[in-house]
Amino acid sequence: MASAPENTGSYTIKFASGEKMPLEMHKVRVVQKLNLPPIERRLEAIRDAGFNTFCLNTRDVFLDMLTDSGTNAMSDRQIGAMMCADDAYAGSQSFDKFQSAVEDVFGKKFLLPAHQGRACENIISQTFVKPGQIVPMNYHFTTTHAHIAVNGGHIEEILYDDALSISSTNPFKGNMDVSKLRKIIEENGVDKIAYIRMEASTNLIGGQPFSIANMREVRKVADEFGIILVLDASLIGENAYFVKKREAEFKDASVAEILRAFTDLSDIVYFSARKVSSSRGGGICSNDEELIDRMRELVPLYEGFFTYGGISVREIEAIAVGLRETLDESMISQSPSFIEYLVESLVADGIPMVTPPGGLGAHVDAMGFLPHIPQSEYPAGALAAAFYLISGVRGMERGTLSSVRDENGDDILSDVELLRLAMPRRVFTLSQVKYVEDRLKWLHKNRDLVGGLKFVQEPKILRFFSGKLAPIGDWPEKLTAKFREDFGESL
Ligand code: F0G
Repeated sequence: MASAPENTGSYTIKFASGEKMPLEMHKVRVVQKLNLPPIERRLEAIRDAGFNTFCLNTRDVFLDMLTDSGTNAMSDRQIGAMMCADDAYAGSQSFDKFQSAVEDVFGKKFLLPAHQGRACENIISQTFVKPGQIVPMNYHFTTTHAHIAVNGGHIEEILYDDALSISSTNPFKGNMDVSKLRKIIEENGVDKIAYIRMEASTNLIGGQPFSIANMREVRKVADEFGIILVLDASLIGENAYFVKKREAEFKDASVAEILRAFTDLSDIVYFSARKVSSSRGGGICSNDEELIDRMRELVPLYEGFFTYGGISVREIEAIAVGLRETLDESMISQSPSFIEYLVESLVADGIPMVTPPGGLGAHVDAMGFLPHIPQSEYPAGALAAAFYLISGVRGMERGTLSSVRDENGDDILSDVELLRLAMPRRVFTLSQVKYVEDRLKWLHKNRDLVGGLKFVQEPKILRFFSGKLAPIGDWPEKLTAKFREDFGESL
């Protein structure tokens, strides 16, 4: 008897009513209870957290949309594999499985394990960045920037000009402007360029992808000048999914083929495995043994032995399976299709959102949402705190708070001020997404009540993680009172 073919496509289906809905292509077999504390407790919690959502305890959080990092749901196959891990300090067979998954999925023979993505950035920056050198990239990620700066380098972000416009129909806002790249190399000289970095599903501008056509152009310039091309593949699965949907040449290609097209164009690929449905891990891989040899000795120095690199062997098993599952479009499309649903519902109600919808999360334009708050009063941070207060949903500020100060101590204002509502893969149901939509619409109607924030305690490095802020004025109390007026006793 013939068996049903396995579902591999993406699943946004049409209801009889004509409405389109993303459909969950998985069932939930292990659940975790959630808590939605009343708004009065949420007010206390956000005050105790210094109006910084990083400092909240999840006891006080209903939906945790801070990040997809280490929070994606695991599959039964991943958990099954974890039970079969080979607990050896050296020569673990679990590492062999990791290595063969990397070879099959990314097409790279040599793999250095590291405990997470920023540990890979530490190794790459220490090896290749010399003081005064430049790393041109489509856009930075916070930890990438910090590691390059610590090693005396600096970054040049070379997106096309429209990539930072919030509302756009540009399908590939993460593309690198290759003429700007050439100009930087010619003006500074090849020796000043440490390497070129491309980041898949460019995180800080709203999870926006770049195209294969663009990567080919970047590769040509790298070859012409003999510069190493590094791919941050932390979110490569989503980027590959967008290529399939948006780049005509690849509409019939599989996610596996698209992914390989990207990695084949890169000299070094690194990734945070926390984004690959595991809670720890990362890796640097290449087919160039000489490049790997230059980095190799930093692995036992900072991470651990070559066959675990600071990752537990159980996690290594989960990563190996998770990497292969990235090739399944029904899995990799789940988060982007929920994000698309949320973004489109909010845009229809006039809420300023980053468009087109990207990977990782839905991104609210805080400057458009709260035009009365100047950037010096951290509108995206204020929006994150206000949204937590009225919903129990924890998002993340991605704006000036996540930036740094210049040599005079002034804030370097961020290009964009975003509230990121991350959509960890296969974690939330559609009714939870609808709750987010509803509460954000309510906050938008009451946006005039929200005020700014100021620092009261500010760490020097990566200040957004643990810095403490205070509201300017008593807006949190006023917002709480308005919530009670409109929702009565409801949570
Ligand atoms: N590169 C990108 C593109 C990332 O998104 C991240 C992490 C890293 C590198 C660093 O990896 O956390 O494993 O050390 N992004 C997380 C986020 C933190 O919430 O977006 P890590």
